[in-house]
Amino acid sequence: MLRIRVLHGPNLNLLGSREQSIYGTQSLDDLNSALRTLAKELALKVDLRQSNSEGELVNWIQEARKEYDGIIINPAAYTHTSIAIRDAIAAVGLPTVEVHLSNIHQREEFRHQSYIAGVALGLIAGLGPTGYLLALRGLCDHLTAAKRQKKTSRPVPARRAAKGTK
Ligand code: DQA
Repeated sequence: MLRIRVLHGPNLNLLGSREQSIYGTQSLDDLNSALRTLAKELALKVDLRQSNSEGELVNWIQEARKEYDGIIINPAAYTHTSIAIRDAIAAVGLPTVEVHLSNIHQREEFRHQSYIAGVALGLIAGLGPTGYLLALRGLCDHLTAAKRQKKTSRPVPARRAAKGTK
C-alpha cells in the first residue's frame, strides 16, 4: 500500500473563515475528510498534518523519508520564504507535489516566487480544494508507475539468464 504524507502550512487551520473570497468556505477538516475518502478509494494510506511552524514542517518532511512514499504540501506563506523547507524536500528525495488553493501567479508579486517549485515533482495552483484531490491522484499514478518500472527493470538472475528463461 502506498503511503502519502499531506502537509498544510501556516494559517491553513483557519480555512473556512480566512479570506473566504480567496480561499473559499471549506474548512481544513472538510478538506482532510475529502482527502481521506479519496485515499480509501485509491487504497492509499494518508497522514494529514497542519503546522504554523516552519521547523515542525521541516521535521515532518525529514521523518517522512522512513515511512512514506511521497509528499503533498501546501507550504502557504513559507512557499515564498523558506529555503529550509526546500532543502528538506531536496534532502529526502521523495516525490513531492506542491499545492495552492489560490492561483499565486494572479496575486501580489511577492507570491509569484516559490522556493519549493524547483524541487517539486509538480505544482497545482488555483483550483481550490480540488487541487489537493488532483495532487493525490497524480502522485498515486506517479508512484504506481515508478513501482511498476522498478519491478520490470530488475535484472534477470544470472542462472535463469543462462538457461534462457525469463
Ligand atoms: C496559499 C498561497 C500563499 O501565498 C498564502 O500565503 C497562503 C495560501 C494558497 O493555498 O493559495 O497561505 O498557499
